[in-house]
Amino acid sequence: MTIERTRILGVGTALPDRVVANQDLVGRMDTSDEWIQQRTGIRERRHVTANCGASDLGKIAAEEALRSAGLRVADIGLIVFATLSPDIDWPASACLLAGKIGAGNVPAFDVRNQCSGFIYGLSCADTLLRAGRARYALVVGGEIHSTGLDFTTRGREVGVIFGDGAGAVVVGASDRADRGILSTHMHAEGKYAGKLWLEAVASRRTPRICEQDLEGDDPAVFPRMEGKFVFRHAVTRFPEVIREALAANGLGIEDLDLLVPHQANLRINQLVAMGLGLDETRLVSNIERLGNTTAASIPIALSEALADGRIAPGKVVCLASFGAGFTWGAALLRW
Ligand code: ACO
Repeated sequence: MTIERTRILGVGTALPDRVVANQDLVGRMDTSDEWIQQRTGIRERRHVTANCGASDLGKIAAEEALRSAGLRVADIGLIVFATLSPDIDWPASACLLAGKIGAGNVPAFDVRNQCSGFIYGLSCADTLLRAGRARYALVVGGEIHSTGLDFTTRGREVGVIFGDGAGAVVVGASDRADRGILSTHMHAEGKYAGKLWLEAVASRRTPRICEQDLEGDDPAVFPRMEGKFVFRHAVTRFPEVIREALAANGLGIEDLDLLVPHQANLRINQLVAMGLGLDETRLVSNIERLGNTTAASIPIALSEALADGRIAPGKVVCLASFGAGFTWGAALLRW
């Protein structure tokens, strides 16, 4: 059977139980609840307790997505796992997940594109399904940030932002040509890789990790970010790619019912929405409760918007991201 258009058939999420409020971080670094809320909108995030990898959260989200799609794991013909925090260096978290959920011998691969990972992963799944390579795909975004952040004052700019979590979707054929994933759009600008990156462990050096990577003012084992630079590019690229996705389908901002952006910073998303002329009812936001869960943030936000009825059949929904790489992208859906 040829698939002409794909759609999201089911969604799932997994969030660790441990809630870490801004005030909990105050004891560990020089920061304040007021600073974090004012600059980022974040009130709290979730952190795992121990021995939990990205694929462990991914498994919970994936199984929920399968249940909500009314499918069994044996139906899945493709697994894409988007993460910047894979369980281990290699093999892929997608393979670990496949083992944990008991998938068949189907292709499974990771997408390592940070905040844009889910959009890239969804785009791969949509394309491969329409090329006839599988009937159903599982696309998972899963991140464990809390084990890799610097929770001292040295790392406060990044340490307060990230949270752990996972979200998953099942993608399959749409029964209506006008409903489903209308188009996907992916971009990257590698010259800015150094503006937001994690350098160690590094295959370009011998040894790949050494004691110096853990020490000094700016340790290479922790993410580094030029926050203002990233911010400026995000508020430009988001609207650009959202307009690109709408234009590719002959639509305009007035046709957009809901924007589900990657949750990097509430101020970024509010500025983007304002610039596009979208009021708050057309903007999905959960960063206040979950922080930035990078590749997991879009499927989690999507699941929440479905659960509370903001997404309903016929609604035009844009998923959009910007992040390290730099990478950015969008997927336009008619639900
Ligand atoms: N608590 C208190 N002070 C802090 C903290 C903190 N947690 N973090 C940084 N500061 C200090 C800095 O040291 C700096 O101090 P200085 O002026 O003495 O040097 C000062 O606060 C900077 O303050 P602002 O200029 O007001 O900060 P800004 O408005 O730029 O906000 C932020 C910083 C929130 C990081 C912002 O730049 C931002 O959100 N950038 C984009 C982040 C983003 O989208 N990242 C994507 C990551 S996801 C991915 O793809 C991996």
